[in-house]
Amino acid sequence: MDIEYELMERQVCSRGVGRGGMIWHVAVHPDYRRLGIGTNLRREAEKLASEADLDYLEAWTRDDEWVRDWYEQNQFDSMDSYLHVYMDGSKEHKDILEIQTAGFKPIQTFAHYTGPEKEKVRNRFDRVHDCICYVKNLRK
Ligand SMILES: CC(C)(COP(=O)(O)OP(=O)(O)OC[C@H]1O[C@@H](n2cnc3c(N)ncnc32)[C@H](O)[C@@H]1OP(=O)(O)O)[C@@H](O)C(=O)NCCC(=O)NCCS
Repeated sequence: MDIEYELMERQVCSRGVGRGGMIWHVAVHPDYRRLGIGTNLRREAEKLASEADLDYLEAWTRDDEWVRDWYEQNQFDSMDSYLHVYMDGSKEHKDILEIQTAGFKPIQTFAHYTGPEKEKVRNRFDRVHDCICYVKNLRK
């Protein structure tokens, strides 16, 4: 697990209140999952976070349900979400991007969708992922 923590509010994080720590990565070797190692890493991280006087931890994760379960089991609340959209080929790019420089044509594009019509976007493109923000208030 690696966490980058703020010396001043909003240096790294975007959702919690106060000074936060962003969990950039957390992973346990596949042969050793579901043995409590991730939870122990989280506990140790919270100890260090409290020594650094942080108010909350923030993390963003894509839509694997079991990873979401892990965050929720570890008392993180889901705060926000948007979509990761992969566009491939002329059909998926049609009416989405406007290229202003002559000679360029998008072949593959990765985009964030933060608007309200998520269902429409999910239906239109083959590859769409939810990216979810989790926040754990350390002052509770
Ligand atoms: C998420 C992760 C760090 C959890 O670590 P861990 O040591 O396996 O988790 P713990 O043993 O502390 O917690 C287990 C709980 O997590 C969830 N979980 C973890 N792996 C799971 C799996 N393969 N299937 C279903 N639930 C799972 C469950 O809620 C589980 O509780 P349960 O066993 O009582 O059902 C680990 O599974 C991992 O490395 N995942 C891949 C990397 C990743 O996606 N990281 C997040 C990026 S932001």
